[in-house]
Amino acid sequence: MNNANIKLFVQREDQLKVIPNNPYISGNKWRKLKYNIFQAQKENKKTLLSFGGAYSNHIHALAATGKAFNFKTIGIIRGEPHFPLNPTLQFAQNQGMHLEYISRQIYRQKSDPTFIDSLRQKHGDFYLIPEGGTNQLAIKGCAEIVQDLPFDYICCPVGTGGTLAGIITSLQPHQKAIGFSSLKGDFLTQEVQQLLSQKQGKIYSNWHIDNTYHFGGYARHTPKLINFINDFKQHHHIQLEPLYTGKMFYGIFDLLKQNYFPEGSTIIAIHTGGLQGLDGFQERFGHLIK
Ligand SMILES: Cc1ncc(COP(=O)(O)O)c(C=O)c1O
Repeated sequence: MNNANIKLFVQREDQLKVIPNNPYISGNKWRKLKYNIFQAQKENKKTLLSFGGAYSNHIHALAATGKAFNFKTIGIIRGEPHFPLNPTLQFAQNQGMHLEYISRQIYRQKSDPTFIDSLRQKHGDFYLIPEGGTNQLAIKGCAEIVQDLPFDYICCPVGTGGTLAGIITSLQPHQKAIGFSSLKGDFLTQEVQQLLSQKQGKIYSNWHIDNTYHFGGYARHTPKLINFINDFKQHHHIQLEPLYTGKMFYGIFDLLKQNYFPEGSTIIAIHTGGLQGLDGFQERFGHLIK
């Protein structure tokens, strides 16, 4: 794309190939899992346990990665079970993941040590990975998203903030990161600051989160967003999805229209993946994505 001499590159994290012939382990989800898997191996754990919603990219990735690295996996799923399983959970189960459903109310205790203890009593010992996969080892993995290429801006979608936090830790002083929030509200800036504050002795200031392009909130969409995703595919032959990457690219294109980026800027947009969620989205909303 060329707009006031601006170059926009798409970094295809969705096409990462970690294991030959295994397309399921890719995107920011692999970046987040990588050092957690190594740590679990080091601790000699046999089981990985984590949390997610019924369409979670993280649960999908954890099931595939756990299987590939010979771990048992347990997915604690928010809400009631629905049968037949949606494509995300069916895939997770096919990979050998044990699915356990808990009410939305109990799900809120997902970080509570007493609740985690009760899970240990029930399931035996496990390596715990938080919801969305975000922890300090995930940040270490996401720092590797930033390649040694010249750029001025790097953009990524934001859910829990782990991916953005990792990217921020790898920036050169003249580079800026922009996170595009998929959620409504402005609490994510604080979450990312909190994640970064654990990296002692460093202050990161060359980043911000744009909260404009949530399209109604997490997992919400509008016809404008859907049309954008379909047009984007037609023009650029790159598939996006409506939860994360669609919202980010919509935001970037809108900022380009507003001449937000200085002339001559080079922008890298991270395609974080998440395309597994499309099947479930189409099933729920009626094949909106062409
Ligand atoms: C495809 C995709 N992109 C971006 C994100 C946001 O990443 P983070 O939670 O690290 O902010 C997620 C999940 O959370 C995701 O599944």
